[in-house]
Amino acid sequence: MLIARTINDLNTARATLGAALGFVPTMGALHEGHLALIEAAKANGAKVATSIFVNPTQFGPNEDFSRYPRTEDADLEKLAAAGCHLVWLPNVATMYPPNAATTITLTGPATNWEGAIRPGHFAGVATVVAKLFGQVRPSHAYFGEKDFQQVQVITRMVSDLLLPVEIIAIPTIREPDGLALSSRNRFLSPEDRARAPMLYATLRTAATAISAREDVTKTIDSACNNLTAAGLAPDYFNLVDARSLEPITSLTAPARILAAAKLGPIRLLDNIAVG
Ligand code: PAF
Repeated sequence: MLIARTINDLNTARATLGAALGFVPTMGALHEGHLALIEAAKANGAKVATSIFVNPTQFGPNEDFSRYPRTEDADLEKLAAAGCHLVWLPNVATMYPPNAATTITLTGPATNWEGAIRPGHFAGVATVVAKLFGQVRPSHAYFGEKDFQQVQVITRMVSDLLLPVEIIAIPTIREPDGLALSSRNRFLSPEDRARAPMLYATLRTAATAISAREDVTKTIDSACNNLTAAGLAPDYFNLVDARSLEPITSLTAPARILAAAKLGPIRLLDNIAVG
């Protein structure tokens, strides 16, 4: 497995990998969800590159940038075992040189939900992902549907900016009790970990009800009440058009429920297809 920490090393390594290259951008603290993206990239037949970079610009001032888990040695072991061909480990100065003057601004699918609650988050994500695409020059890039809004934002950015990369969304990997895998789950206390599967259970109940044409507003209200009763504090729980991510009050295909809820010190994010 090739490891590059400078642009020169990256360019040398990239030249050995051929035109078709699958790419999995990450912030490290790798889990089975990331490894599923690497498996999907390998199954597509091309070589696979992964990046590890905890991107400061996608964290708000009161968010957990300094506490975000950094587990580089364990990550590299997992990537080698998973058959990854190249790991790109840039530093902050490489990604954000002091004279950098360009940031991507977004509307459309970036506007609501995480975009409203975390101002600047998607600008940070889109800017770093565009830079990573420019550096790694992948033909395909793989993102987990756990961050469904992120997938839509990046898909739209690639389409709007005519970037020569195909975005592939991979279904969420879950614990046996339904909790979506996330690098931040390790911060859940045992009590909160026991409560956490309630988010996906509630999504499933609501998706079943809405698919059976039950009233959307009543279903959503009841879901939020159930989450609150279980000790979760919902930030949002909404039926949306799966492409625009605009809220909808009746079932149009394809639709999705997007949800975020606070549980102790962390926010759980999840979503489910409806209909
Ligand atoms: O999903 C993530 O881990 C990050 O948002 C990404 C896409 C690697 C950009 O920093």
